[in-house]
Amino acid sequence: MNTLSQEKINEIRNGVNIVDVISSYIPLTPKGKNYFGVCPFHDDTNPSLSVSASKQIYKCFSCGATGTVFKFIMDYENISFKEAVKKVADLGGVQVNIGKIEKKQTHQELHQIYDLALKFYINNLNTAAGKEAREYLHKRNINEQTIKEFQIGLSLKHDTLSKIMTQKFKREDVLKSGLVGLNDNGYYDLFYERIMFPLYDLDGSPVAFSGRIYNKEDNAKYFNTRETEIFKKGELIYNYHRARDIARRKNQVIVMEGFMDVIRAYTVGIENVIAMMGTAVTDVQASLIKRMAKEIILCFDGDEAGAKATMACSNELLKIGVTPKVIRLEDNLDPDEYIQKYGKEAFQRKIDNPISLMDFKITYLKSGKDLTTSTDQAKYISEIISELNKIDDDILKELTIKKIATELNIDESLIKKHLVQNPKPIMPIKKAKKSPVMDKYEKAESALVYYMLKSPEVITMYNNRVTYIPEKEYRSLAREISAFYKNFGFIDEADFIDYVECDPDLMATISKINKTNTKDTYTLEEIEDYINVIKAYNVQEEIKRLTDKMKNLTDPLDKAKIAEEIVGLKKGV
Ligand code: GTP
Ligand code: MN
Repeated sequence: MNTLSQEKINEIRNGVNIVDVISSYIPLTPKGKNYFGVCPFHDDTNPSLSVSASKQIYKCFSCGATGTVFKFIMDYENISFKEAVKKVADLGGVQVNIGKIEKKQTHQELHQIYDLALKFYINNLNTAAGKEAREYLHKRNINEQTIKEFQIGLSLKHDTLSKIMTQKFKREDVLKSGLVGLNDNGYYDLFYERIMFPLYDLDGSPVAFSGRIYNKEDNAKYFNTRETEIFKKGELIYNYHRARDIARRKNQVIVMEGFMDVIRAYTVGIENVIAMMGTAVTDVQASLIKRMAKEIILCFDGDEAGAKATMACSNELLKIGVTPKVIRLEDNLDPDEYIQKYGKEAFQRKIDNPISLMDFKITYLKSGKDLTTSTDQAKYISEIISELNKIDDDILKELTIKKIATELNIDESLIKKHLVQNPKPIMPIKKAKKSPVMDKYEKAESALVYYMLKSPEVITMYNNRVTYIPEKEYRSLAREISAFYKNFGFIDEADFIDYVECDPDLMATISKINKTNTKDTYTLEEIEDYINVIKAYNVQEEIKRLTDKMKNLTDPLDKAKIAEEIVGLKKGV
């Protein structure tokens, strides 16, 4: 499973308090014995994540996510168990030598191809062939340090990359990378003479490129790698890996349209900035953004297209319960141009004074309308009402209604009449699925295993009385708990979770039982009942089996023997 001993892992886990660690990621508030926060693992609006200081585990009552501090960090940061252990060890000041941490990477070959391509492009920019491109970058005020930080490179005039790649890697992998093509003349590069901006996945590994023209006319200003096994445009966010920590610390993230804008802002020291890849924001991206910070500010280009994109992006965020704020830039400038023209401080002032989403929408919907005409007035009001119905924020709603009523000199009730009373936030994103109704057998199995995880007494009852749990997932978990108890002589939920953390099936079952069962205490009668239900089920199954068997028999004596067995079983029920 891993090279660390269970004792060492325990020591590392005990070096920190799970409450402190989780609250460095999400805000937690104490309530009773536990701490509560908004669960980052599903689309949560009410705080359904409970963190227990005494048990050193967390549990989500809505989606069932559960685990120790390691599991939380693994899932939150999308890193491996080893990496999470290392992080926790560092936090707790426990010395540990984990050796080289391998990233949990599938598609190793594609990643190797991208690592090499990145080096290749970076190097080109520093050669004679890169002179013009470097001059272009300098002219745009992109200095050497920025080039280095953002790993900017250059693709060449000739098919050099495809030659290198096909010599080093399997050809099918090279073709899969989206950097090299194949035609009758052989392998060829897909990027020629473009300034290459690497695009990274959420962990910061390069997984694609966006190439910008700099020395020729072309109808595509940017050309992006097509989607591959490791590059899904709608699932990544430009600059996410660099911006994530600082955005969480500031609890603020600024979303821009272009990655040039992000590079500029980051370079002048505004680091909590991200961008989409020139596409509309997807639901996956929206929920990633939601997890980065509480305050989300959309700062798109100052032109009409930027205003339209602000509308679209904000509506996507509203669907998952986030009301972003908005910055609008004058003179059709984009953030890159704005910062260069007016400086960092002016831009920072914009960030410090964003406008409310409704104020932005009001201005947006007003533009191009002649509000002295009743046709446009009516259109305007109905559009505003439709926007009001999308937001959850009661105060913002009330303020907007007042504003519009005053502005158009109409009665507030006219607007209010058309508002949907309790606008349900539209939740298109995978809602925590309600498990199908459980029958009494499954309920018993689930509850029994749940209490086994809490008490040696229940484990002993299981050992002595239950021969077979019908449902495979509960059976496997019960056996594992029983084995753990036999090996270590105690049962502790957090320890046990660490022990099986690498087994996704067992972890899924633990989540499931924690979702269905919530009580901390049990009575012995209750446990007896569960065991009896399970045993009854087994007997039913046995009777069914024997009845089938009997049907196939011809010898009356054999038949009688089995009939007797069935009667005996029935009596026992
Ligand atoms: P510069 O003109 O270099 O300053 O770029 P920009 O950051 O101002 O880009 P712009 O606002 O024009 O576009 C925003 C984003 O849309 C860019 O960051 C790209 O991701 C994307 N984009 C722009 N033009 C193209 C294009 O021609 N093709 C593709 N695929 N994407 C583009
Ligand atoms: Mn620009």
